[in-house]
Amino acid sequence: MHGDVYISGAKNAAVAIIPAALLVDGVCRIENVPDISDVKLLEVIIKELGAEITYEGKNTIIIDSRNLNSYTASYEMVKSMRASYYLIGALLGRFKKAEVPFPGGCDFGFRPIDQHIKGFEALGAKVEVEHGIVYASAQELTGSQIYLDVVSVGATINLMLAAVKAKGVTPIENAAKEPHVVDTANFLNAMGANIKGAGTDVIKIKGVDELKGGATYSIIPDQIEAGTFMIAAAATQGDVTVRNIIPKHMESLTAKLIEMNVKVIENGEWIRVIGGDKINKVNIKTLPYPGFPTDLQPQTAVLLCKSEGTSTITEGVWDSRFQYIDELKRMGAKIKVEGRIAVIEGPTRLTGAPIRAMDLRAGAALVIAGLTAKGKTELYNIQYIDRGYENLVDKLKKLGADITRVDD
Ligand code: EPU
Repeated sequence: MHGDVYISGAKNAAVAIIPAALLVDGVCRIENVPDISDVKLLEVIIKELGAEITYEGKNTIIIDSRNLNSYTASYEMVKSMRASYYLIGALLGRFKKAEVPFPGGCDFGFRPIDQHIKGFEALGAKVEVEHGIVYASAQELTGSQIYLDVVSVGATINLMLAAVKAKGVTPIENAAKEPHVVDTANFLNAMGANIKGAGTDVIKIKGVDELKGGATYSIIPDQIEAGTFMIAAAATQGDVTVRNIIPKHMESLTAKLIEMNVKVIENGEWIRVIGGDKINKVNIKTLPYPGFPTDLQPQTAVLLCKSEGTSTITEGVWDSRFQYIDELKRMGAKIKVEGRIAVIEGPTRLTGAPIRAMDLRAGAALVIAGLTAKGKTELYNIQYIDRGYENLVDKLKKLGADITRVDD
């Protein structure tokens, strides 16, 4: 693959910022919104709650939440979406009441929301889960110190949403530091919130009476989409410049690619990746940011199939995120999984086969596998990829990939 690719807005920031707009007693204009199915679904959900959305082209939306009139989200809408849990924090902050079905999303084993609930309760809310629905309500939300037992992106953002209009100060300790946590805090601040420390271990939220909105905010580039293209470039021995990104967000991947003998050149808003013949074996452990992202773990496993010797990947975030490896094995990969560790023997030239995506990032990884494999690969369940990648097929085609989308 050769050429330039432009990265879209970050999915995991967009799915937090759109619910965050429900806290605004006014209008907000959001730019660089990725055109992906998770965002489209959220837009339908917030319209059902009474928000008005207007579009300016494909990637800018204007959300007017002044006439929001419901704190109840329907099961049909939220069942397949993990990020629907942000509706709890946002509606609790707005109405002091929220009724939202327990979140769905990709299956990585047990995905609890106990830290979200613990935090809402610390702010004074009563939270009950009955018949698959999370009921949260409070007379008054009052700022309170919250210590997260595990570093959780979702809990950190959700508690910012719930605390932004609470009375007093809420310090969230052991907070997640991912770029989308910082982006959500920046969005809320642009709309009138008072949040300090996002991107560090302690975030301090001083409650304000109102978020007036009236501002324009541009979502950061998608770190995981950028990483997917960087890995695809290395795996195909290509020469690809990944543009419209924040290279700092890519540091953990860049360091590993260099260790693997891939040439990486970075400059301001782009990173150029030039793949070579030989990929060195490496050991990787996924961790919360600034560690190596779990959302790039499957894509990296595909690249490591080409490495010389034995590489290992330890999954440090999710209990079970190696289901896609059975599909890679069907393509000839030599990988053994023991608990949270995958041991990859290389180099292996994968061979094309009919395969099946089981979640979003695994889907993207299997696309890369197909691009590097000998012969034709047919990938099924591509609706998972549509959840988080804008125009993946077209972007790959422009780089010279031989890939066609076949809709049923
Ligand atoms: N956890 C708890 N209790 C909680 C919350 C989390 O024990 O209340 C545990 C989880 O079980 C997991 C760890 O904490 O072991 C981290 O979970 P986290 O809450 O950070 O994950 P999340 O917010 O549900 C987001 C991304 C995921 C990404 C993870 C980790 C969104 C919408 N999703 O999930 O992204 O894997 O952070 O970085 O932001 C993806 O984009 O494909 C994706 C799955």
